[in-house]
Amino acid sequence: MESLLHDWTESHGAKFEKEIVTFKHGLNETGLFTDEALIDLLEKHPSELLDVCTMGDPDHPVYPNRFRTGDFRGVSGEVLVQAAKAGKVWINIRKGMNIHPEYKAVLDRMYGDLGEALSQKPYNAHGGILISSPIAQVPYHFDKTHIILWHVRGKKRIYIYPETEEFIPDRAYEAKMLRYLDDDLPYTPEFDQHAQVFDLENGQAVTWPLNSPHRVDNREFCVSVTTEYSTKESKIKNANMVANATMRHKFGIKSSYRESSQTHRQLKSLLGYGVKKAGLVPNDKVLDMVTFKIDPAASNFIADTEPFERNF
Ligand SMILES: [Fe+2]
Repeated sequence: MESLLHDWTESHGAKFEKEIVTFKHGLNETGLFTDEALIDLLEKHPSELLDVCTMGDPDHPVYPNRFRTGDFRGVSGEVLVQAAKAGKVWINIRKGMNIHPEYKAVLDRMYGDLGEALSQKPYNAHGGILISSPIAQVPYHFDKTHIILWHVRGKKRIYIYPETEEFIPDRAYEAKMLRYLDDDLPYTPEFDQHAQVFDLENGQAVTWPLNSPHRVDNREFCVSVTTEYSTKESKIKNANMVANATMRHKFGIKSSYRESSQTHRQLKSLLGYGVKKAGLVPNDKVLDMVTFKIDPAASNFIADTEPFERNF
C-alpha cells in the first residue's frame, strides 16, 4: 500500500521532534473525511467522546467571549455538519481515530509509515478529528505530549512560537500540571513577531518540538486530525514539572527544569511519579456546564438553554 507520507525525505526525519516540520499526507484519499463519511461517523460515535461547542459572541448578554458546551442529543450527523458549516459551532470527535476499526486502520498506517520513515517502532498514538468553523480560534497554549496536526481540508492558519522560557515559562508549565492556576499561558500580541505562521494546505501536516506554544485560526469550515503520543522525554519532563510544582507550592523551593542536568531530571522524575501515585495531584476535572443546544431552527443552530451539568 502507498505510504500516507507523501513528500517525506531524510531531511524531514533529521528535523522531526527537533524543529517545526511540515509534510504532505494522504488522509484525503482514504475517503474517511468527506462530509458523508463524517456524518456516518457522528451518527455512531459515543456521545461521551463527542464535544459540540461554540464561543459566546462579544455582545452575548450572559456568555460574552466564553467557551460554551452544547447539547447535541437527538441531532443527526447531517445537522451537526450543517451547524459547523454555518460558522459558529465546532465539533471535536475525541478518540475518533482509535475506536472505529476503519479509522484505526488509517491511524495505524499513519504511524506505521512514520515509524518506517524514522527507522523506529511506531509510537502508540491517540487521534481525534476536529470539524471546525471560523468561530473556533484555539488560543495560545501548549500541549503536554507530542502533537502532529494532519490538516485535511479548509483554510487553517497556525502560529507556532519558540519553546523558550520567554514564551513558555517553567512556572506556567508547572501550573498547568497541577492546576494551581486556572490561567491560560501568558500571551501578548508582540509574541507573534517571533512566531512561524503556516497557512495549511489541504493534505498538509505540521508538527513541532515538544511543548512549543501555538494557536490556531480557522478561516472557514475545516476538517483536521490531531494525533498525540508520549515519549520518554515527555514523560520525564511532565514528572519533573509535577515534582517542581509540588516543591514550589508546598515548601517554597524553586527549581528550574530548563537548568537541570539530564541525570537530575531522571532522578527527579521519580519524585514526580511518586507525587502522582500518592494522589497529591489535584483532580483536573472541571465542571462542564451545558448552556445551549443544537437547533436547526435557531440562528446559527444555537439555542440557549438553562445551564445544566453535562450528563451525556
Ligand atoms: Fe495544541
